[in-house]
Parts: sequence; C-alpha cells; structure tokens
Amino acid sequence: MNRRLDTAVCHQFGSQLPILAFSHSLPVTAAATNCGAIGIWGATRNTPEEIDEGLAWLAARCGGRPYGVDLVLPANMPERDNRELLETRLPQCHRDFVAALRTKYAVPDDGLPGTRSRFVRSQEMAHAQLGVVLASEAPITAMGVGSPPEAVSSLHDAGKSVISLVGTTEHARRALDAGTDMLVAQGYDAGAHTGDIGTFSLVPQIVDLAGDIPVVAAGGVATGRHLAAALAMGACGVWMGTAWLFAKEHDLDPLVLAKLAAADSGDTIRSRADSGKTLRQITTAWTDEWSEPGAPEPLAMPLQDILVGDLLGAVSRHRIEPLMKSEAGQSVGYFRERTDVASILDGLITEAVHVLDRLGSDI
Ligand SMILES: Cc1cc2nc3c(=O)[nH]c(=O)nc-3n(C[C@H](O)[C@H](O)[C@H](O)COP(=O)(O)O)c2cc1C
Repeated sequence: MNRRLDTAVCHQFGSQLPILAFSHSLPVTAAATNCGAIGIWGATRNTPEEIDEGLAWLAARCGGRPYGVDLVLPANMPERDNRELLETRLPQCHRDFVAALRTKYAVPDDGLPGTRSRFVRSQEMAHAQLGVVLASEAPITAMGVGSPPEAVSSLHDAGKSVISLVGTTEHARRALDAGTDMLVAQGYDAGAHTGDIGTFSLVPQIVDLAGDIPVVAAGGVATGRHLAAALAMGACGVWMGTAWLFAKEHDLDPLVLAKLAAADSGDTIRSRADSGKTLRQITTAWTDEWSEPGAPEPLAMPLQDILVGDLLGAVSRHRIEPLMKSEAGQSVGYFRERTDVASILDGLITEAVHVLDRLGSDI
C-alpha cells in the first residue's frame, strides 16, 4: 500500500487502494477486488436468482477482500412487475416510432425481451433483489439512484456497509439522513444515469456537506491526475465506470468495443431514450434517431424501458451495427485499447503518486 493513497476508503472497507470499480461484469468486479481496489457489481438489471448466483460467484473469488453489489432503487416505480399493464400505457405514436426503427435498421423480431424489458422496474422487483442481497455475504451495497431509508436500515441490520451515489447536494442530504456510510459524488461527465452538475463543481460541495462521512469522486476519472485532483478536492478516492469497459476481463462485443475505442470525450451524449432518465452513452444512430425533430419525447421510467427494451435486446443479439452502443462517460476519450484491470489500476496509482510527489502533497 502506498502511504499517499492510504485514505479513509482503505480504512473503512479494508482495501489497499482508494478506488472503487463499478462494472456489470463479474470477472471485472472480482479482478478489481483482487488487485487491491473494491469491485462493485452492477446488478440492477439482474433477476433475484441471477443476483444470488452472481454474489455466490464473487464470494468464492474475493474471499475476505472487500467487494459489493449495486442496485438502483428509484422512487415512484409501479408496485408490481406487471409488463402487460404498462404496455396498455404506451402511446401509439411511440410504438409506431420504435416499429419504424425496427424496419429501417432491419432488426429481427425474435420475440425475446432485452435487458430493459425482461422485468419491470417495480417495488416488487426491488424488494426481491434487496432480499437476496441481504441474505448474501457481500459486505457492501451501493445504491445508484436514491437511498431509501428502510433499505439502508435493513442493510445495516444485516451487517453491510451502504454507499450512495449522488449528483446534487439535495441527494447527498437525503442519503446522509438515511444513514449512508459513504457518498459517491457523481458529476455530469459520468457514464450512464447522470445529472446536470459537473464533477469539479460537485465534489467539494458534497465533501463540505458530508462531515465525517467519506466521499469519493466519480464522473470523468480516467488517469492518476484525476485521482490526485479528487484527493485535492477533499475526496478520499474515486469511483470509476467507463474505464473497465476496456478491461480484457470484460466480454464486451467487439463491435461495441471498437466504437468505444474510437470515441473522444465529445462523442457521448445524455439521452432519455433508453430508460426515461438522462443516460450518458456514446453517440450512435440510436441517439441520432431520438434527437431528430420528428422523434417523440421519451416516456418516463419505467415506461421507456418497456417501449424500447425488446428492440435494444434484439439489436445486441443480432449485432445490428449502427444501433449497437454502450453507456460511457466523457472519460472514454482517454482509452484507446483493451488492457487488463491490473494495468489500468497500475497506471492510475503510478501517475497519482508521481503527481502528489511532484506537488509535495501530504494528502
Ligand atoms: C456501462 C456503464 C453502466 C453503468 N450502470 C450503472 C448502474 O447500473 N448503476 C449505477 O449505480 N451506476 C451505473 N453506472 C455509473 C457508474 O456507477 C459510475 O458512476 C460512472 O461510470 C462514473 O463515471 P465514469 O463513467 O466517467 O467513470 C454505469 C456506468 C457505465 C459506464
């Protein structure tokens, strides 16, 4: 462990590095933890059975080292996982638009759902997912959008630490009131669901608000210089997502990887077309189509998930190149080729230590 990088994150969770690696890939999550960071598995789109299996897989590989699971538990979701009911609420003009995209790009209708439409984001599903997490050995649970106080209490009762992602001081206040153990101040630059405030503007405000609760910075972190800057802003480390898409441990489709590797920081856009909430992703024919003047306004979550989920699933399964895409943050411009988790972490640490030495910092 490097003395300069031995922060409150390491003390609180028992990691060697103050870096949290968010990924939907189990092998990336395990690799990050086993390299001294903290792997967090994004499981919001997994069924309770899959989460159970995935967490058992991680427990067997991360023995005693810190790792976690991320759920997204937004407020105001329907009570039941009832897709038929939601379908009756999809406006015809939206259905027509999606059907026209299917025809234009020759996307086969194989009758299967996609990641977004295999179940409805609902209170019923959130309860079932949380139940599996509570019964698991995973020591950390992260909450992507909102930290319901009853969920935080039950996780604490089960002996787990809670990490809350926030994009505004108001989100942070609510998560602190709910009793969270750590805040991730995630700025506008970030991949996937993200708000309106840039990382540099956000992080010091959240640090000031959080008092003794540790804060890590997210959104646009790609290099050791970013890690050093996060520490300079009062954060205790960083939380990263986009970087791990380039890890060899991640079995990303080569067509998607090629698009990511070619993308600069200006080649991402926030779009509501996937989930109904602003989701940063690389610019593709998908985001272009939804930005056209005649395109409908995306629906609210979870209606938009159901509207587009089957189509997006078929796009991935049948590899319809113009529409294939990935969530990614503006940090995507720093990554050009595949490497492994250990090398990404090495690069971050070496550069951060060099910068901190150069600045003569005692951080
Ligand atoms: C491909 C991808 C998928 C993501 N999915 C989720 C998610 O399911 N839950 C969540 O809390 N955050 C999710 N995020 C956001 C990350 O947790 C993280 O905050 C963000 O990636 C940080 O910014 P960066 O992309 O610049 O590293 C995702 C990010 C990416 C790149």
